[in-house]
Amino acid sequence: MFHLAWFVGSGYSLQSWRGPWSGVGAQEWMRPQLYVDTARALERAGFDYMIFEDGLMIPDAYQGKLDAYLRYGLEAPRLDPTMLVGIIGQATEHIGLIPTISTSFYPPFMAARSLVTLDHLTGGRAGGNLVTSSSHRAAQNFGYEQHFEHDLRYRMADEWVQLVTRLWDSWEPGAVVLDQEADIFADASKVHEINFEGEFFKSRGPLNAPPGPQGRPVISQAGGSPAGRAFAARNSDTIISVPVGVEGMKAYREDISDRMVAAGRKPDECKVMYLVNPVVAETDAEAREELARRRVRMRSEGALHRALATMSYFSGIDFSQFDLDQPLPDLTGKVNGHQSSMARYAKDSEDGKTLRELALGHDVVESLELVGSPDTVAAQMAEAMEEVGGDGFLLACDIDRRTVAGIADGLVPALRRRGVVRSGYGHSTFRENLLEF
Ligand SMILES: Cc1cc2nc3c(=O)[nH]c(=O)nc-3n(C[C@H](O)[C@H](O)[C@H](O)COP(=O)(O)O)c2cc1C
Repeated sequence: MFHLAWFVGSGYSLQSWRGPWSGVGAQEWMRPQLYVDTARALERAGFDYMIFEDGLMIPDAYQGKLDAYLRYGLEAPRLDPTMLVGIIGQATEHIGLIPTISTSFYPPFMAARSLVTLDHLTGGRAGGNLVTSSSHRAAQNFGYEQHFEHDLRYRMADEWVQLVTRLWDSWEPGAVVLDQEADIFADASKVHEINFEGEFFKSRGPLNAPPGPQGRPVISQAGGSPAGRAFAARNSDTIISVPVGVEGMKAYREDISDRMVAAGRKPDECKVMYLVNPVVAETDAEAREELARRRVRMRSEGALHRALATMSYFSGIDFSQFDLDQPLPDLTGKVNGHQSSMARYAKDSEDGKTLRELALGHDVVESLELVGSPDTVAAQMAEAMEEVGGDGFLLACDIDRRTVAGIADGLVPALRRRGVVRSGYGHSTFRENLLEF
């Protein structure tokens, strides 16, 4: 069996608001209903978790201005997903919920407290997607001149996790006594200062909140660079990743397993999920037609600008300065943003792709192309997982009620008929369900 998760790829923001099935999404994107309905559908389908991307600025990396990002609603707006998770938790019972948290900018004490609060609110279903954030603009929103250097961010993130974990552990098991007759809430001898003093962070502790049902909320991570993978291998319960093709997926899983063993962990303790965006329709032919329609939409002038703006945001390099009809120049050593994305752009440029081709293909980066009827796509997924050996797929489809239903009520029943995904939840907490197989 393999796991399923859902990536809310544009965060708590506009969701396919111009699409043909967006309903009242353009007017009501800031209300929780679409997310609540999505989470309920995914829970009906037995998804392990729903994860919310996040960012902390309006970018201006493309053309040096905010215009493209605001015009197209790209990477902005972003409301705070931690609060949304509290509301979704109230409307669901089993699905894990992971907001993104920046280890570079969220003070560890504050993040430890928010995540424990969510773990209580959801009855043990909270997690944090720990990112280091990549843009100088985010750093400037928090009072820094510019962002920390790439590998330093991961060193800081490691220490951040150590500190947050110490805060979560600052209440020993049994510290909460709740003896009404003796008039004792908690046993002070079991709640400890931590007096953490690291290279980057300091905190006295204890946390002013007792541990949630999971103790340590689930930790997720996404960075694909060597520093990012090493961080994930030490700290994560799940990794969201986009290696391309079955061989790439296999190699990614093996690399993470090796790094986990080196860090003294068992490879089974972390589930690697591969990003896909399946196109599912009633028949294979209809799904291929739908894919063709999407590809036409992606060739528009607006789509080209959107792709260039997104690439500029990821890398921190303004792609408006390069000739669209030439391969990119060598940008080695000039990137402080996402190194794994940049490595991909560099490879495609070496292979002779022009910037225009690279940009127009940008939106389709996924681990596998999955197109067809529910049964066809289920077969493709099962076959790939059989070869890769686990652990599951991260679906990054549009969020509108029709698309979500196609997955939850079309694709997942087909997967269940093959016996490759769960048909219910065996445990009460997120981590137990995640580690069940
Ligand atoms: C599936 C996926 C989801 C991500 N979600 C976020 C996010 O919500 N916020 C963020 O700042 N970065 C996000 N990232 C970026 C990563 O945290 C990381 O910065 C990026 O993958 C580059 O990492 P690297 O420099 O280690 O390669 C995501 C990356 C991937 C692959």
